[in-house]
Amino acid sequence: MDVFVIEGGRQLAGSIRINGSKNAALPLMAASLLTDEPLVLSDVPNLSDIRNMTRLLGELGVDSDLATPDHGPDHSQSHGPDHGQTITHRVTDPTQSHARYEIVRTMRASISTLGPLLAKRGYARVSLPGGCAIGQRPVDLHLRGLEALGAIITLDGGDIEATAPGGAPDGSGGRLIGAPIFLGGPFGSTVLGTANILSAATLAKGTTTIESAACEPEIVDLANMLNAMGAKITGAGSPRITIVGVEALHGTTHRVMPDRIEAGTYMCASAITNSKLTLQNCPLDAMMSAIDTLGHMGIHIDATGSNDDPMRRTCTISTSGTIKPVQITTQPHPGFPTDLQAQFMALLCLSNGNSVITEKIFPERFLHVAELTRMGAQIHRQGATAVVTGVKELTGAPVMASDLRASAGLVIAALAAKGTTVINRVYHIDRGYEHLESKLAGVGASIRRADAEEFADSIAAL
Ligand code: EPZ
Repeated sequence: MDVFVIEGGRQLAGSIRINGSKNAALPLMAASLLTDEPLVLSDVPNLSDIRNMTRLLGELGVDSDLATPDHGPDHSQSHGPDHGQTITHRVTDPTQSHARYEIVRTMRASISTLGPLLAKRGYARVSLPGGCAIGQRPVDLHLRGLEALGAIITLDGGDIEATAPGGAPDGSGGRLIGAPIFLGGPFGSTVLGTANILSAATLAKGTTTIESAACEPEIVDLANMLNAMGAKITGAGSPRITIVGVEALHGTTHRVMPDRIEAGTYMCASAITNSKLTLQNCPLDAMMSAIDTLGHMGIHIDATGSNDDPMRRTCTISTSGTIKPVQITTQPHPGFPTDLQAQFMALLCLSNGNSVITEKIFPERFLHVAELTRMGAQIHRQGATAVVTGVKELTGAPVMASDLRASAGLVIAALAAKGTTVINRVYHIDRGYEHLESKLAGVGASIRRADAEEFADSIAAL
C-alpha cells in the first residue's frame, strides 16, 4: 500500500492542466450501453474509478478500446498527459446484464449502469452499492424513478433486479414508458439518480418530465452527449428536465468536461502555500460558488488567455497573504459543492478567525477532522457542523486518508504544514486525482509516493 511523503512550507510556481471530470466521465461511459454503435470519449482521466467502470462495462458486454485516434482538428482527439485518454466503447454482447457485487462494492457510481441497461435491454441486475466512508448512500430515489417509468423492481440477494414492461432476463424486448417523475429527496436532488433516469428516459415510449432534477454541470455534459446521440432532452441544468423518448440512439464522439473538483483542489493548494499557480482547462463557469467563497477568503481567481470557452479557461490564483474566515454550507449545485468541503476546511485551518462549515449533503463527511487535528488544527464538530478556529501553523504528522476528498484535504494541509507529513492509504486519492504527486511536484512541491513499509512504525501508531 502506498503513502505520500510531503515536506511542507514550499511556495509553488507554474501551471497545472485540469483533467476531464471523473464525475462526468462515469455516467458518460455508462451511456455506451444505450447504443449499438461506437461511443468515443476523449479527455477521459486516467483513474482507478475509470478502470473499474471499464472493467464493469466489459462484464456487461461492452468492449473498450483505449485507442489513440488521429489528432482531430482541435486536438481534442489527441492522447497523452496534456489531453487525457480517448476510449472507444462498443456493445458486443447484449446478453450480459448482471453488474456483480465484486465490482459494484468498489465503486458506487456502478449504479449509473442500471438506467441505461434497463432502457436498452428491458432487463438489468445490478448489485446494491454499499455505504462508504461519507455516508449510507441509499439509491431509493433511483429505484422510485425507474418504477415511475414502468419498471418492476425487486431485491434479490443484495441485487437490484429491474424489468421493463414486456422485458425478460434474456434482454429480449421490453420498453420503459415515459412519465412525470419527482426526484427530490431529503437532501435535495440526486446527481447519479438524475443521470440514471435521464439516460433511461431517452429510449422510453413517450415523454418524461423529471422534477427536482440535479442541476450539476456533469448532468448538462451528459445531456449534451445524449442529444448528440439523437436524444431529445431539454432543461438540463435546471430542476426540470424534459425528455421525449426515441426508438434508438446512435454513436457519437464527446470530449469530457473538465473536472471542477480537481480545479478547486488545486486552487486551495495554491492559496494555502501563498503561491500564484496557473490552471489550464478550468471550468470556471461551473465553479461560481467556490470562486465566490475564495473571494471572501481573500483569494482571487483571474481568468487569463484568449480562450473564450467559459468551461475551459486559463486562470491564475492570487492571495493577499491572509486567509479570512468564512461560513460554508454545502448544497446541491449551484450551491457550494460537498466535494470541496474537506479541501476548504484544510485551507481555513490557517485563517485569521473562526469559520463555520455545515454539511447538508453528507452530514457524516468529516473523517478528515480528526486527521487535521493531528496536524495541529483547531476544529470543533457538532453533528453536521464544524467550527474551524484558525491557527498560526500546522505541523506535519502521519495521517490516515479515509475517502477521496478527505485525502485531498490532507494533501493541502501537508503542503503548508511545518515538517514532514506521511499520508497513508493514498489509493483513495488515485480514485479521483490523476498524477497528483507529479502535478504538484511539477510546480515545486516536495511530495513523493513511497511504500508504506518504509514508514511502518509511524503508521502503526495511527
Ligand atoms: C455524486 O454522488 C458524486 N459522485 C459525489 O462525488 C458527490 O459528492 C455527490 O454526487 C453530491 O454532489 C459521482 O458523481 C460519481 P447524490 P451521488 O445521489 O450521485 C441522498 C466524489 O468525491 N440520496 O447526489 O451518489 C444521498 O445519501 C463523490 O467524487 C438519497 O437519499 O450523490 C446524499 O445525502 C463522493 N437517495 C444526497 O442524496 C438516493 O436514492 C446526495 O446524493 C440517492 C441519494
